[in-house]
Amino acid sequence: MALLEIEKISVFYGEMCVLRDVSLQVERGEVICVVGANGAGKSTLINTISGVLKPRSGKIIFNGEEITHLEPYQIVEKGIIQVPEGRRLFLNMTVEENLLLGSYTPRSRKKRKENLEKIFTLLPRLAERRKQIARTMSGGEQQMLAIGRAMMADPQLIMFDEPSLGLAPKVVDHVLELIKNIAAQGVTVLLVEQNVHHALELSTRGYVLENGTVVLSGTAHELLNNPHVKTAYLGL
Ligand SMILES: Nc1ncnc2c1ncn2[C@@H]1O[C@H](COP(=O)(O)OP(=O)(O)OP(=O)(O)O)[C@@H](O)[C@H]1O
Ligand SMILES: [Mg+2]
Repeated sequence: MALLEIEKISVFYGEMCVLRDVSLQVERGEVICVVGANGAGKSTLINTISGVLKPRSGKIIFNGEEITHLEPYQIVEKGIIQVPEGRRLFLNMTVEENLLLGSYTPRSRKKRKENLEKIFTLLPRLAERRKQIARTMSGGEQQMLAIGRAMMADPQLIMFDEPSLGLAPKVVDHVLELIKNIAAQGVTVLLVEQNVHHALELSTRGYVLENGTVVLSGTAHELLNNPHVKTAYLGL
């Protein structure tokens, strides 16, 4: 059984259809990359899986259980979390307060101490800066904090919406390395990333989304060598 199964979802903003009959499968332990141009529907897809948006038709199944109609907080409790585009930190709070707020569900709250230690091991920078106000951190540090906070929810599936947006190339490498480490800990990853080449390199499989439909899917290797992907997304 796949960890996440999306069956033909269609999502509208008013009368505008932005996802049409999108199907997608994520197996446990995979790193899935969703590739698409600006406006293709990538954030809409992530927000629909998170329950922030509701599909007009289709189904979302997680661990064999339909979650299509659950509220966002219930979906987090089931084990799905997203690191949103733009991070959405509590900027006037400290690093540690931001992290603790990530474990607001009953399930993750029980493991709060243990997970905080795990995150401080994974991200020693955050441990050193636990009392620092989030606003005063650099863009890269804020992204690491946003990822740490998401990990505090103790997810089985973590979704990243353009985590390297606006970051310097060196910092981008750090973020991608961190995503790799998270995957190595057994957390399944769904990644949306502008940096298509790097993203596919750390992925097992990928889907190409164009104008709200999946036009192509395959192993990362297949996509990296696909002529359409090469010209449209890799600039080759
Ligand atoms: N709240 C909204 N109301 C109306 N239309 C929206 C809304 N949010 C997004 N859209 C439209 O839906 C389409 C898909 O948007 P979405 O944000 O999912 O794209 P994306 O692939 O994440 O793009 P980007 O790479 O720029 O982040 C776009 O045409 C966008 O203008
Ligand atoms: Mg987006």
